[in-house]
Amino acid sequence: MSKGKYYITTPIYYASGKLHIGNSYPTVAADAAARYRRMRGYDVMFLTGTDEHGQKIEEKALSAGITPKAYVDQRADEIKNLWKTFNISYDRFIRTTDDYHERAVKKIFRRLYDSGDIYKGKYEGWYCTPCEAFFTETQLKEGKCPDCGREVKWAEEEAYFFRLSKYADRLLEYYEKHPGFIEPQSRLNEMVNNFIKPGLEDLCVSRTSFTWGIPVDFDPKHVVYVWIDALSNYITALGYGSDDDSDYRKFWPADVHLVGKEIVRFHTIIWPAMLMALDLPLPEKIFGHGWLLLDGGKMSKSKGNVVDPIVLCERYGVDAIRYFLLREVPFGADGAFSTAALIARINSDLANDLGNLVSRTVAMVEKYFGDQLPAQHDSAQGDGGMGALASEVKANVEHSLDALQFSSALAEIWRLVSRANKYIDETSPWVLAKEPSEKPRLAAVLYNLCEAIRVVSVLIEPFMPETAAGIRRQVIAQGPLATWDSLDSWGALPGDVHVARGAALFPRIDAEKELAQLADGQEAVPQQAAAARTDAPQAHTAAVPAGVIGIDDFAKIELRAALVTGCEAVAGSEKLLRLTLDVGGEERQVVSGIAKWYGPGQLVGRKIALVYNLKPAKLRGVESQGMILAADADGAASVVLLDDKVPSGAKIH
Ligand code: MSP
Repeated sequence: MSKGKYYITTPIYYASGKLHIGNSYPTVAADAAARYRRMRGYDVMFLTGTDEHGQKIEEKALSAGITPKAYVDQRADEIKNLWKTFNISYDRFIRTTDDYHERAVKKIFRRLYDSGDIYKGKYEGWYCTPCEAFFTETQLKEGKCPDCGREVKWAEEEAYFFRLSKYADRLLEYYEKHPGFIEPQSRLNEMVNNFIKPGLEDLCVSRTSFTWGIPVDFDPKHVVYVWIDALSNYITALGYGSDDDSDYRKFWPADVHLVGKEIVRFHTIIWPAMLMALDLPLPEKIFGHGWLLLDGGKMSKSKGNVVDPIVLCERYGVDAIRYFLLREVPFGADGAFSTAALIARINSDLANDLGNLVSRTVAMVEKYFGDQLPAQHDSAQGDGGMGALASEVKANVEHSLDALQFSSALAEIWRLVSRANKYIDETSPWVLAKEPSEKPRLAAVLYNLCEAIRVVSVLIEPFMPETAAGIRRQVIAQGPLATWDSLDSWGALPGDVHVARGAALFPRIDAEKELAQLADGQEAVPQQAAAARTDAPQAHTAAVPAGVIGIDDFAKIELRAALVTGCEAVAGSEKLLRLTLDVGGEERQVVSGIAKWYGPGQLVGRKIALVYNLKPAKLRGVESQGMILAADADGAASVVLLDDKVPSGAKIH
C-alpha cells in the first residue's frame, strides 16, 4: 500500500553549461532520496530536466553555427546521457522548449498580468549578459557583475514587471509559520536579512534584447524572463495549465526542491511569490545544498578545472562516485573534490570495509559448506549484537534520509559493516572450522554475516543500486529479501542461504601510482583498460624507435576546434596576425605568423584547429593563448581548416 506521494525535483540544468562532477552532485543526491522513498513505499515523482532558453544559449548556438533548437537538442541528449551513466532514476524529464511547457508558461504570464501582478514599465540598469540579470549600481561589485565578476553594460528597455515588492510581508510570515520551509537554517537567515528586510524591488520579467525565449502571447516582441520560464517547470511538468492536470493534482505541492545555494533566492523568494500570486500552494521545502569545490574554487570551464563526470565514472565506477559524492560532504555544506580523497574513500570504505566483508564471508561459506549453509542452525542466537545494531542503524538511516542527510546515513550503515568485520575477527571461523563439533556454531556465525551483508545491501541500495544488486547475487537474496520492509526483523534470510562468489566489488587502487599518472597529465582510461594494461607490461617496456612517441605523449596535447570570430594585424609586425577565437563559448586570442599568406578578413567565420593547452606566450607584446595548426605548403603556411559542421570547442583526437 502506498505511504503517500513524494515529489522531489532537481533544478533544470542550463543547456549552455558545462557538465562537471560538481553539477552532477545534486542529481545524484535527488536520486538517492527518490530511490529511498520508493523503497519506503511512496508513490514517487522525481523530476529533472533542462533549462533551454535565454540569450546565452542563443549566442552559443550562433557561434557554433547552428540554430538554438539544434543546439539545445544536442545538449539535452548529452545531459540525459550523463544521467543514464549515473543510473539516475528520474520519472520525468522536462525541457523548457517542450510545447506543453511553453503553452503553460504563456498562460501563467497572462494570468499574472490579468490579476495585476504583472504590469508594463521601463527597465534601466546594469545588465550582465552571461547571467541574464540586471543590477542596480549598489549591487555591483567593483563595477562588475556581483554573481560572475564579468563586465556589465548599461541597458534600458520597455519591460514587464512582477510585483515582487507586494509579497515581502507575506513571505516573512510564511517562513515564520513554516519552520522547515527553507533548509538549512543558515540559508533562511541569509534570505531574510540580506534580501527581504532591505526591501524587495519589483522584478523585471520580460526581455526584448533577444528572441530565444517564450514570447509573451499578448505582446510578442517580449520574451518571458528565463527564471519565470524555468521555475514554472515544477508545475508545468505535472500538467498544470494543460488539459490533463491529474499529476499536478496528485503531486503538487512538491515535497522538496533540491537547489544549489546560489539559486536559493530564486526558489525561496521569487517562486513562492509567483505561487502566491497564482493562488497555488507552496512547496513543502527548499533545501539549499552547498558547492563541491575544486582546489578551493567553484568548478567551471573558464577556470579550466573541470572534472569530467563521465571519465570519472568510467575510471572508478559509477557507484564509487555516487558513494563519494554523498559520503564525503554533509549535505548543505561546501566540500572539496579531489582525486586523492576519492581514492582514499574507495580503498578504505569500499574495497577494504565493504568489499572485503563480502568476499571473505562468501569465500568462507564456500570453503566450509560448499555453496549453501545447512538449515539447522538457530539464526537468532549469538549474532554478536548485530541484530540489535541493524535495527538501530535502520532507524538512524531513516531519520537521516528523511532529513536529506546522506553522509550521516552512510556513516551509520558503515557502523554495521565495521561491526560485521569485527565479528569475523572475534569469532575466528577458521578456528571453528578445525573442530567438527563446532560446525553448527560455524554455520550460525556465517549465517549472521550473510544476514548482516544482506541488510547492508538493502540499506545502500538508494546510494549504490548496482553494488547492492551485485552483493545480493553473491549472498543470494532476491524479491522480498531486497525490500526495506525486510529490515524489520533480524533473520529474514533463510537459514540455508546460497552463495555464489563473484568478482571483487571494488578493486583496490594503487593510490601512489594513480596520482602520479594523473599528475603526469595522462588521459583518463577506463578501468578495464587499466586492468588489461597491468596484464601486459611488455606494452610499456618494449623498445621504441627514436623520434616515435607513445599514445600517452600524444594525449598530453589537447587539440580543439575553434571558430575565428575576429582577426587583425599586430601593430609593428609584417608577419603576425592576432586572431580572436571562440572555443565552445570561451574567448581566446592567438597570435600567428601567417600574415604573409592570409589577409585579416580571410579566416573570420572559419573553423580552425587550436592547440588548446599550450602555455601562453607573448609575441610582440601580445599574449598568444595557444597555437593554430597550419601545414607547410612548400614554404607557405596553409591553415588547417575544419568542416563547418564541427562544433566550436570540440576535441580533436
Ligand atoms: N537553470 C538553473 C536552475 C533553474 S531551476 C528552476 C541553474 N542551472 S545550472 O545548470 O547552473 O545548475 C544546476 C544545479 O547544479 C544548481 O543547483 C547548481 O547549484 C548546481 N551546481 C553547479 N555547480 C555545482 C558545484 N560545483 N557543486 C554543487 N552544485 C553545483 O542554476
